Amino acid sequence: MRLRDFGLWNGINEVIVITKGEKLNTAPIGIIVENEDGLNAKAKLYASHTRQNLEKGSFFIANIIRDPIIFAISTFEDLSEEFFESLSPPVIKGSLAYCEFEVKLNGLYADLRLLNGKIIRNELRAVNRGFNAVIEALIYATRLKMNPKLAEKIRECYEIIEKCGGEKEKEAMEIIKERIGIR
Ligand SMILES: Cc1cc2nc3c(=O)[nH]c(=O)nc-3n(C[C@H](O)[C@H](O)[C@H](O)COP(=O)(O)O)c2cc1C
Repeated sequence: MRLRDFGLWNGINEVIVITKGEKLNTAPIGIIVENEDGLNAKAKLYASHTRQNLEKGSFFIANIIRDPIIFAISTFEDLSEEFFESLSPPVIKGSLAYCEFEVKLNGLYADLRLLNGKIIRNELRAVNRGFNAVIEALIYATRLKMNPKLAEKIRECYEIIEKCGGEKEKEAMEIIKERIGIR
């Protein structure tokens, strides 16, 4: 077993992390991999419900998924149970794989060690600039309060999503527009 078997390659891998507090919490998080042939990774965790849940001993389950709507919703709120195809282990509908990690909080970082995982489906998709632009727009959206100038970058992402995205990317863009009020 190695990280790469579950799609986690060297670099930063954007996944949806599920933790549990009073209810399931979902958040996009970048899993940082330096050795894709191994089991160890890390994540930088700012103050969030994800961090709070881990401080209280929650599990850490990463869903590897390429659905832009899931990324958009879980950036702003938690996915409700109807978005899941399984609750134990928690797997969001359409996930390609899930991985469970052991977590040791270490300052700003969480040191992660892959415990187990499963590939659920194998779906081919070519690189889509619209999907990538959704992810960029979401990252800017989470930093917008600290840097209002990012509004311009978000509008550039909208142009790429309009040109290159499919229906799901465009729906994700509508969620972003509604949430941040930038058209
Ligand atoms: C693509 C993407 C990647 C992100 N990666 C991280 C990350 O690595 N660490 C982090 O603390 N927040 C990251 N964020 C921000 C969190 O997902 C965001 O703050 C979220 O609202 C936290 O939710 P929670 O409070 O329910 O845990 C990322 C956001 C996006 C859109």
